[in-house]
Amino acid sequence: MSNFEYVLGIETSCDDTSVALVRQDGFVVGCLAANQDLVHRPFGGIVPEIASRNHTLQLLPLIEELLARTNFTWSKIDGIAVTSRPGLIGSLLVGVVTAKTLAIMYEKPLIGVNHLEAHLLAAFLFDEEFVKYKNLKFPYLALAVSGGHTQLYLVKERGDYEILGRTVDDAAGEAFDKFAKYLGLGFPGGQLIDSVGRDGNPSAFQLPRTTVKGAPLDFSFSGLKTAATRLVDALGIEESVKRRADLCASFQEAVVETLMSKLSLALQKTGLSRVVLTGGVSANTRLRNVANEWSVKSGVELFIPPMKYCTDNAAMVAKAGLDRFSVGEFSSQDLMPLANSAPADFHESSR
Ligand code: KG4
Ligand code: ZN
Repeated sequence: MSNFEYVLGIETSCDDTSVALVRQDGFVVGCLAANQDLVHRPFGGIVPEIASRNHTLQLLPLIEELLARTNFTWSKIDGIAVTSRPGLIGSLLVGVVTAKTLAIMYEKPLIGVNHLEAHLLAAFLFDEEFVKYKNLKFPYLALAVSGGHTQLYLVKERGDYEILGRTVDDAAGEAFDKFAKYLGLGFPGGQLIDSVGRDGNPSAFQLPRTTVKGAPLDFSFSGLKTAATRLVDALGIEESVKRRADLCASFQEAVVETLMSKLSLALQKTGLSRVVLTGGVSANTRLRNVANEWSVKSGVELFIPPMKYCTDNAAMVAKAGLDRFSVGEFSSQDLMPLANSAPADFHESSR
C-alpha cells in the first residue's frame, strides 16, 4: 500500500469549481461542485474574468463543506492534487494558488495535474451510489469529448498516453454550444440540443460528416457548424423554429456518427477491445445509446463514467494525483498554471 491513501482534488480549469476526496483505489469519499452556468448564461458563453472571480469566492467554502460532510480532518489527507493545465489561465491560477497555500499551511505534498489526463482516468472512479460492476484495465482507447476538447487517446498504462486523433478546429461540445446559440436555444447548448432533438427526426436534414484529409482519426466540426447555420438561414426564422426538433436531431446525429466512426477506426487500427467515453458530451443520450448498442454488437467493453465524473469534477483530478504520488512524483511551490498541456504530458501517434 502506498503512503498516499486519501488525496484532496481541486478543479478550477474552466467554469466549474469542484473539490473531492478520493481513496487510493478510486473510491470517491466525497465530491462537490459549484456550477456557474447561470452566471454565464446571459453572455451566451463562459466569460473568463467572471469564471475566475467566482472560483475565488467558491473554492475555500467548498473545501470546508467537503471536510465537514465527509467528517475528514486535514490530518487524514495525504496530499493535494490540483489541475494546473490546460485551461483558462485566470481560473487555473485560483486553484493552483489555493492548493499551494494549503500545502504549506498543512504540510502536505502537492501535485499539479493535467486536466485531460484526469478525464482519461475518470472511469476508475466509483462511490457508494455507483458501484463498479467491472474493472477497467490498461490498455484502452479513450474518447474525451467536451466543450474544450475532442481527442482520441491510446491509454497504454498510467502516465503513458498517445494521442491518436484530435479536432483540427471546434471541439464537439463547442459545436453543440454554437449551434444551440444560433438556434436561440441558450447556453450550455449540448443538453438543450439533446432534449429538443429527442422529438426530432435524425435523418430529416443531411448534414456533413467531415473527414480530415491525410489524418483519418482527426475530427473537424466547423464544416458541420457552417452547413447547419446556412441551413437555418435558408429555412428562415419561422420554418426553423417549427422544425427545431428535426434540426437538433439531425445535427446531433452528424456529431454522433462522426465520433463513432473515428472510434471504430481507432479500434481497428489498435486491435484493442476496451473503450472509455468521457467528457461533458458523453452525457449525450443519443451518443450513449449508439455507443452501448455498438458495444453489445461488436463485443467491445465500453466504460462510460457516471455523468458527475464525465463532466469537469475534482474526483478525477484527485485520482490522477494519487497515481502520480504513488510513483513518487510531486510538484514544488514553483508550480504555475499553463494554458496548454506540457510537452511531456502526451505523445503523438506514429501510426
Ligand atoms: O467536460 P465539460 O463539462 O467541460 C469542458 O468543456 O471541459 O463539457 C461541457 C460540454 C459543453 O460543451 C456542453 O454543451 C456539452 O459538454 N454537453 C453536452 C451534453 N451535456 C453537456 N453535449 C451534448 N449532449 C449533452 N447532453
Ligand atoms: Zn473537462
